Amino acid sequence: MIFALCLLAPAAFAQQAADAVAPEAATGLAPEAPAPVTAQDWMVAAANPLAAEAGARVLREGGSAADAMVAVQAVLGLVEPQSSGLGGGAFLVWYDAATGALTTLDGRETAPMAATPTLFQVDGEPMGFFDAVVGGLSVGTPGTPLLMEEAHRRWGRANWGGLFDEAISLAEDGFAVSPRLATLIADDAERLSSSEATAAYFLPGGTPLAEGATLVNAAYAETLRAFARDGSDAFYSGPVAEGIVATIRGAAQPGVLTLDDLAAYDVVERPAVCAPYRGAEICGMGPPSSGALTVGQILALIEPYDIAALGPDDPQAWRLIGDASRLAFADRGRYMADSDFVPMPRLLDPGYLAERAALLAGDDALPEVTAGTPPWDHAALELADDTSLELPSTSHISIVDSAGNALSMTTTIENGFGSRLLAPGGFLLNNELTDFSFRTHSDGVPIANRVEPGKRPRSSMSPTIVMRDGAPVMVVGSPGGSRIIGYVAKTIVAHLDWGMDVQQAIALPHLVNRFGTYDLEEGTAAAALAEPLAALGYETNIRGLTSGLHAIAIAADGLTGGADPRREGVAIGE
Ligand code: DON
Repeated sequence: MIFALCLLAPAAFAQQAADAVAPEAATGLAPEAPAPVTAQDWMVAAANPLAAEAGARVLREGGSAADAMVAVQAVLGLVEPQSSGLGGGAFLVWYDAATGALTTLDGRETAPMAATPTLFQVDGEPMGFFDAVVGGLSVGTPGTPLLMEEAHRRWGRANWGGLFDEAISLAEDGFAVSPRLATLIADDAERLSSSEATAAYFLPGGTPLAEGATLVNAAYAETLRAFARDGSDAFYSGPVAEGIVATIRGAAQPGVLTLDDLAAYDVVERPAVCAPYRGAEICGMGPPSSGALTVGQILALIEPYDIAALGPDDPQAWRLIGDASRLAFADRGRYMADSDFVPMPRLLDPGYLAERAALLAGDDALPEVTAGTPPWDHAALELADDTSLELPSTSHISIVDSAGNALSMTTTIENGFGSRLLAPGGFLLNNELTDFSFRTHSDGVPIANRVEPGKRPRSSMSPTIVMRDGAPVMVVGSPGGSRIIGYVAKTIVAHLDWGMDVQQAIALPHLVNRFGTYDLEEGTAAAALAEPLAALGYETNIRGLTSGLHAIAIAADGLTGGADPRREGVAIGE
């Protein structure tokens, strides 16, 4: 009924839904959350207090969001080394207050030119996931250093060299190992022992670093000094680059990355991908990330339904979100990959999305979900579904500066501690290439996200800026592998439809459906939805869902920020 009404008047309905936003947050599923951080001029939200403070210092002194990001990333690479750093890649979405323009920078890792489609196969069969992750084979050419430099070149106001002062001091004087880092080191001790240099740093004398231990990283300080002095050339050539290649080539499972791959690396500017939702535009990173397309599809598929009226405690709200997500993930698995290599159909075509949205009109979970048949500009390709896996690490940075610029950046070395290879320059190397499909074909049909030389592996990272009337109203993103998409979509729905402030929206328990099974967040009220969702036909699975959402809402009366209570992040603003 609701759906029919919306098909007739979608614009009017969207307005009605926006008007229906509850002024107070709903109770029930919504947990008690601390008040959000508020500010007037600027704000930074990041995964570690030391990193957020480094960014805050830059913003307080009049630096731009791009300047602050450089300082935050330099510190994160030290204090949260398992998640992101110079040895990884990142996507950045930028709103420019002076021009009103929105753009994205793609600093994703690339496959070395010597990589072949069967990189992760042995005797024609895919390797075990962690057999592929640990060692040199999984390392893609890092993009984060050049992304930092490029963002500063375009939008920086502060002196480049000074942006590393904080990180250099912390690396030289030492910092206290955080509880989360200590736990992750202990949990991963066996894999971290696979490389001598990595073991010496994280497991000195064979013992995992304890919470509160002072950790010094003189090699990282030296790398940062060179980066501060000579820019990214100091990373992509010379001793740092030689150290990276030697580490990859000398690993127990050697990789194929060369000095030429490093020298040839480029950051790519791409148009932001935007999808309309409730009168706003949800804008983010296009291919090689599947983030903005999949978040955009999920929201487009639920837009015809009155999610605001249902509220977060109604299993029907989660049926709509869950099945919209399954449909979007089916398209993601079939069609999304690095579009510089694989033509893609028009996955946000309004007519196509209306057809897919109509599939949600029933009352029960869809018995079966497959990829749809979106329109093509290119001759339609026959593609097989992809089954590649993604597991925990990654970090999200949200920043708004005093000039009104907004930055949303998700940054990663892929798995926790990446390839477990510590380069001589004092940073971990990514395992991003395992975001490719290990298989090239399925039943003779090619898989879009197969490995190819120079290609960027498909990502789920969803750095997002929500725009309304041409101005940013929300900056958000998260780690979490392919669950990132669900975390970000939920936080947007909780804020826009359910009227929660960003801290409540982040804290709202997660219910994430990617491929059919409904993941419900352990230890939260989401578990109470297991029975009603099972009655609608879902298989449910109660488990930890460790997002790391950082969000800033931007309104006429100031900034409101939130950090994910599931990790160690903070929002700081003035
Ligand atoms: O690019 C991606 O989608 C993944 N490599 C991100 C990995 C991740 O978020 C792990 N999270 N906890």
